[in-house]
Amino acid sequence: MTKPDDPHRVLIFDTTLRDGEQSPGISLNMTEKLEIAQQLARLGVDVIEAGFPISSPGDFEAVEAIARQVQGPIIAGLARTHTQDIDAAWNAVRDAERPRIHTFISTSDIHIQHQLQTTREDVKGQARAAVAHARAYVEDVEFSPMDATRADVDFTAEVVQIALDEGATTINIPDTVGYAMPQEYGAFLTRLYELVPGLRDVVVSVHCHDDLGLAVANSFAGVQAGARQVECAINGIGERAGNASLEELVMLLHTRHADLGLTTVVNTRELARTSRLVSRLTGYVVQPNKAVVGRNAFAHESGIHQDGVLKERTTYEIMDATTVGLAANSIVLGKHSGRHALQQALEDLGFRVSGQALNTAFKRFKEIADKKKQVTAMDLEALVTDELRDDLGAYTLEWFDVEASSRRPPHATVGVRTPEGTIVEGSFTGDGPVDAIFHAINAATGKDAKLREFHVDAVTSGQDALGEVSVVLELGGVPAAGQGVSTDIIEAGARAYVRALSNGVRRAALQTPDAPPAGVELTPTP
Ligand code: KIV
Ligand code: ZN
Repeated sequence: MTKPDDPHRVLIFDTTLRDGEQSPGISLNMTEKLEIAQQLARLGVDVIEAGFPISSPGDFEAVEAIARQVQGPIIAGLARTHTQDIDAAWNAVRDAERPRIHTFISTSDIHIQHQLQTTREDVKGQARAAVAHARAYVEDVEFSPMDATRADVDFTAEVVQIALDEGATTINIPDTVGYAMPQEYGAFLTRLYELVPGLRDVVVSVHCHDDLGLAVANSFAGVQAGARQVECAINGIGERAGNASLEELVMLLHTRHADLGLTTVVNTRELARTSRLVSRLTGYVVQPNKAVVGRNAFAHESGIHQDGVLKERTTYEIMDATTVGLAANSIVLGKHSGRHALQQALEDLGFRVSGQALNTAFKRFKEIADKKKQVTAMDLEALVTDELRDDLGAYTLEWFDVEASSRRPPHATVGVRTPEGTIVEGSFTGDGPVDAIFHAINAATGKDAKLREFHVDAVTSGQDALGEVSVVLELGGVPAAGQGVSTDIIEAGARAYVRALSNGVRRAALQTPDAPPAGVELTPTP
């Protein structure tokens, strides 16, 4: 991408589906990745880094599908400097309206000596060859000197100059291990601008990890030093402690616009919804006090604060909840609403659902509307996100019985539909009803999955609120997440567990012995 004419425009590069997907336990399938990518397009990000195509056949297919189906943002594929990585990235993104190849190699001596086990000269050669090879395919090429903030700035500048000479159009400066401090990171960029004047003609990007909780502060310091692309992820997910949080950066630039004069084209009203979608599909629960999108981000507990806000909102609020899309939860449907009303309400929420998907969504809606008096926008969103997970090739929960009593151990029996379409049954007597039903599902499917995390939340407030359960389990060493919603927590838990199991099975199948592991930082570069 050529540098925007407007010097105040900050490009938002979303890496939820690449660096974010590298978080332990996250295993999104293709439908889920596509759904997140469509929502990111609706949110208005400039670039979607859709994945690391060489890392697995599943990642390749997902990047390819996103490139073909998601309109608007640039679609980027990540590649090491290897020829086959760049070929795979190109083959995956080539059908996008605006494709990008993002290639990287480390410039820190720690990485060069211990991980790459090579020399600085070789790194220069690899960077040159990689950018040249990528540019032979496409004009839009991004180059990252990995672990730059722990590298010698003069050597990093040499490598960056090589990337520019070969035609890179974006230069990204990663704080790969989240080690930098804001003033140090800003100074690193300033020095690079001095050493490589050509950086002024391309887009300079920041990519900061949150190991010391400074990812957003460091990214902002980079922007103040002149960077105009920020790499970030929804809810700040990513390797280890994660990446800079997209919603925090966007709202920082939005809220302090009068002082900074910087703009993005993100539709801030889509932030909360994007956060909920990513949280649901990844199983990564958003902490209640998370800035911008946490449940309590706009809640006032102390009497003095409540009094102030009731008199004038701005006494204790620097942002308006509606600006981030948190306040919209009008009642949309009741138990007498029909299929057409449901379809219309879903369309208003941005979900185009028809055919068999609408039939299943309607069936689940009726079940829930029978138990709940009012079905709100947030209920519908949770329901559809839940229901769309029942894709082909997955296990689905058909029925369950749980006997719970304080006088004898709980017993559960389940019927699960296998990917082949047969119903298998299993039962178990466990420590609690949830334990019993999860083990009954293991017994029915013949899988030895181990529960690692279990979270329950309410979709909305109120006694008849829908319960939302997120589960992370481990299957044969592979972590996998799933979620489910229902007015009944046991049912929501069972749905979540069955989904996590399907994801685990799918993920294990995709881990072919020849494919490199999915983690970028862990991937050895010969
Ligand atoms: O953290 C990092 O250095 C990365 C690069 C691949 C940009 O994720
Ligand atoms: Zn990273």
